[in-house]
Amino acid sequence: MATSVKKTSSNGISSPPASPVSGNRIVTLDEFIIRSEKDFDFATGELTGLLRDIGVAAKIINREVNKAGLVNIIGVADSGENQSGDMQQKLDVYANDKLIECLKNSGECCAIASEENDDIIHIPPIGTKKNHYVVMFDPLDGSSNIDVNVSVGTIFAIYRRKSDPSAPATKEDFLQAGVKQVAAGYVLYGTSTILVYTTGRGVNGFTLDPSIGEFCLSHRNMRIPENGATYSVNQGYYSKFDLEMRRYIDNCSDQNYGLRYIGSMVSDIHRILIQGGIFLYPSTRKYPKGKLRLLYECNPLSMIVEQAGGKAMNTQLKRILDVVPNELHQRCTIAIGSPAMVDELKAFIERYSALPL
Ligand code: AHG
Ligand code: MN
Ligand code: MN
Repeated sequence: MATSVKKTSSNGISSPPASPVSGNRIVTLDEFIIRSEKDFDFATGELTGLLRDIGVAAKIINREVNKAGLVNIIGVADSGENQSGDMQQKLDVYANDKLIECLKNSGECCAIASEENDDIIHIPPIGTKKNHYVVMFDPLDGSSNIDVNVSVGTIFAIYRRKSDPSAPATKEDFLQAGVKQVAAGYVLYGTSTILVYTTGRGVNGFTLDPSIGEFCLSHRNMRIPENGATYSVNQGYYSKFDLEMRRYIDNCSDQNYGLRYIGSMVSDIHRILIQGGIFLYPSTRKYPKGKLRLLYECNPLSMIVEQAGGKAMNTQLKRILDVVPNELHQRCTIAIGSPAMVDELKAFIERYSALPL
């Protein structure tokens, strides 16, 4: 029988249940997912299956990312630009195809939206099975870093569909506020490969052990430090930022915060999750609404960071997870990370945005 373990605090963050595993023995991602399923009421195994599919795709993408440079898979793809106007790399296309393929094979979701596709992709049901979930992803985040051997990632989000499960999924199933995510996570193809995910009961990380080909629990119940000593922003755009953002950055420098900016959001967020800090992508002249995508990047990473005790807002001071999207490839501004640092930025925006320019 499914047991219910749900305690939600005033900030909307659920406290994690007692860890489903104990001792020092190796716990694989698959085992952890299956054991955690018991925490959900009415669990049908669909969500478990989806997370497993993503884990398989991540291993395949990891294998290819690791070979980049040896085989002809680096560089710009023949397809040119994607919907967002970014150059598509060969590995963007490869990672996108693998994720779609893995999710199609098991037929556990009814539709997919990807940063690399203009529109939603329907997944035909297997037999008479009704599928209740849709999946969104950024198949390869930071892909312009591939050619120079710098870490890249995959980001994903899973929502329960709103439409009738006996009919095809609709765009409205995807245009839900981030607070409706039932699971979110990322894979970082770094010095080691790590998969970090949440189903709304805390955050856990699994490092890929290449010798056995399994993601193994390595970071249990991750908590973001209340404060940090670094800020992360593309400071090259400083003169294009609004006054309040420039004042905040000046203050970071005055306080001797270090600047760390990798240029792949997954890598920057992973560092912040472990060491504390703040990541900023405000509006610039080129991207007045911000550059990062709400559905594929900001929402899943905001869920992870909030679940770990952090905060995420846009530069209008609205919680990212409360923004209701109106288009699939919507961009947004973001400030995300240690709660004390996000609060400090909020105070700067409140103080300086009222000043005449
Ligand atoms: P993607 O490769 O999926 O298009 O994402 C790149 C994003 C993000 O990962 C990173 O933080 C940001 O773009 C970097 O942008 P700038 O080069 O403008 O700083
Ligand atoms: Mn990205
Ligand atoms: Mn991408």
